[in-house]
Amino acid sequence: MGRELILGIESSCDETAAAVVEGGVEVHSNVVFSQAAEHAQFGGVVPEVAGRSHLEAILPAIDQALADAGVGLGDLAGIAVTARPGLIGSLLVGLSAAKALCWSTGLPLVDVDHIEAHVYAATMEEPDAVHFPCLALVVSGGHTALYEVRSPLEMTRIATTLDDAAGEAFDKVAWLLGLEYPGGPSVARLALEGRRDAIAFPRYFPKRKPGAEQRAIGFSFSGLKTSVLYHLRGGDALQPTPPPDQILDRADVAASFEEAVVDTLVTQTLRAAEQRGVGQVLVAGGVACNRRLREVMHARGAERSVRAFFPSPAYCTDNAVMIAGLGWRRLEAGLVAGLDVDASPRSLDR
Ligand code: KG4
Ligand code: ZN
Repeated sequence: MGRELILGIESSCDETAAAVVEGGVEVHSNVVFSQAAEHAQFGGVVPEVAGRSHLEAILPAIDQALADAGVGLGDLAGIAVTARPGLIGSLLVGLSAAKALCWSTGLPLVDVDHIEAHVYAATMEEPDAVHFPCLALVVSGGHTALYEVRSPLEMTRIATTLDDAAGEAFDKVAWLLGLEYPGGPSVARLALEGRRDAIAFPRYFPKRKPGAEQRAIGFSFSGLKTSVLYHLRGGDALQPTPPPDQILDRADVAASFEEAVVDTLVTQTLRAAEQRGVGQVLVAGGVACNRRLREVMHARGAERSVRAFFPSPAYCTDNAVMIAGLGWRRLEAGLVAGLDVDASPRSLDR
């Protein structure tokens, strides 16, 4: 085996993950220990619980990733780890483990931005088909934003959400409907039984700014979430929210809500692609698992000659394959971190 093997470590939110990837694309192992069951009773991620759980899982995850790949630390070219953005107490667990391993072995440490890694995941399965510059839509539990991507190592944010992330809206609506956490897959499953046009939930589209040539691009999901809540209260905001088993049109609510999110994401992504004359869009993050989003993005993209790339579902949600993959690209480019590199809750300014 060559020295193109990278160990990737991810612990930014509620998945403890480790993976070994060769040459930035070839997956040798992919270990993901999910904490979802621990957070389910709270309806969302509890940072303190997440940090403690990462501590217990990080070394077993790393050991298993190396064992599954049939390699030892001596076979590696470097260790890549998520350093930002994320929950600080969670990030520190993975980062400290990576630093300790690099310090004791002399291997180079590569710090990776979680969002850039999500975007990279959308290029990994068809690396020769993706051309730069292109656009990336990152839709996860914590982020909903569009980026101009000049290379896997260089991207600039061009639009973001004013309030909630799309995944967060899925999680909150799932909670209202009495569905299990995480909400995205549960809402999507129930939506299959409902009518997408049953309820006209609002779509947020920014207005053209005075004097601007083009319409602004941006996202907002809090109004949509409130609109779902008021619908469940029978249109009267002052009424109590009914318990889930008394909601008669749950499937229609799920389907109409999902349609509103998908319509907003697709319309604005394709508008941004058109404004920039870009023919390819990378779609990444947990919400990129959503089947309806894939279907509508592909169909409406094809009408405008825009091709969309989605990672396989396993590489949409948090994983360490994407960290190891982008880590290899960074190592190749000489972007090695010092052992004093810090974790940060935010991405670096770009
Ligand atoms: O990227 P990710 O694993 O974690 C973050 O970095 O946030 O994304 C998790 C989010 C959750 O909000 C989850 O509900 C959502 O992705 N999600 C989905 C689907 N699968 C996961 N949302 C809609 N449809 C899905 N099929
Ligand atoms: Zn993520």
